[in-house]
Amino acid sequence: MSDEIDTSKPTGLSRRGFLKGLGVGSVATGLLSPVSLNETLAKEGDVVGPGEVPVTLKINGQGRKVDVEPRVTLLDALRNRLDLTGCKKVCDRGTCGACTVLVDGHPVYSCSMLAIEAEGREITTVEGIGTPEKMNAVQKAFVEHDAQQCGFCTPGFVVACTAFVRKHPNASIDEVRAGLGGNLCRCGTYAGMMLAGVDAAKGGA
Ligand code: FES
Ligand code: FES
Repeated sequence: MSDEIDTSKPTGLSRRGFLKGLGVGSVATGLLSPVSLNETLAKEGDVVGPGEVPVTLKINGQGRKVDVEPRVTLLDALRNRLDLTGCKKVCDRGTCGACTVLVDGHPVYSCSMLAIEAEGREITTVEGIGTPEKMNAVQKAFVEHDAQQCGFCTPGFVVACTAFVRKHPNASIDEVRAGLGGNLCRCGTYAGMMLAGVDAAKGGA
């Protein structure tokens, strides 16, 4: 299932609206993850755990080996085992987007995906999107528009916005708003972030 909405249609349902309508908890993984749990876990004879199992994750272009229990989320593996703390743990239940990473180029709530599901996928965290010395277009636009207050939601927005503008060059502000509907900012810094998204969409990311 695509993680994108068709923003060319004015009546397009936002990711957030869709999640609200169906019940977030049970839908988030299926909607946002390109990987099916069944695909990964339900193969006969592939039962693993409950103890730690070795997993190799391809993160920001590098293979990273880690031993995790199968129940460990990608978010916890990144933050607690691999020192990649750009993705934030806020709701831990697929509603806020603070934990967003790219998996094979798609924005995914890393709190709603198991680390073992991510094996063999290309994972990109905010650390792999750009650095303070070499920011991507979205990061630059966020700085230029002062699009943050506490900054806790910012990495998730930057990752989601990067995926969005890659697929929607020249997006309008309404399209950016709809495209980032799966991310929440508790400080309410939406105005700056939407303008940053529009600017970044002009230049690509
Ligand atoms: S921490 Fe993952 S969606 Fe909120
Ligand atoms: S800037 Fe504080 S939560 Fe978004």
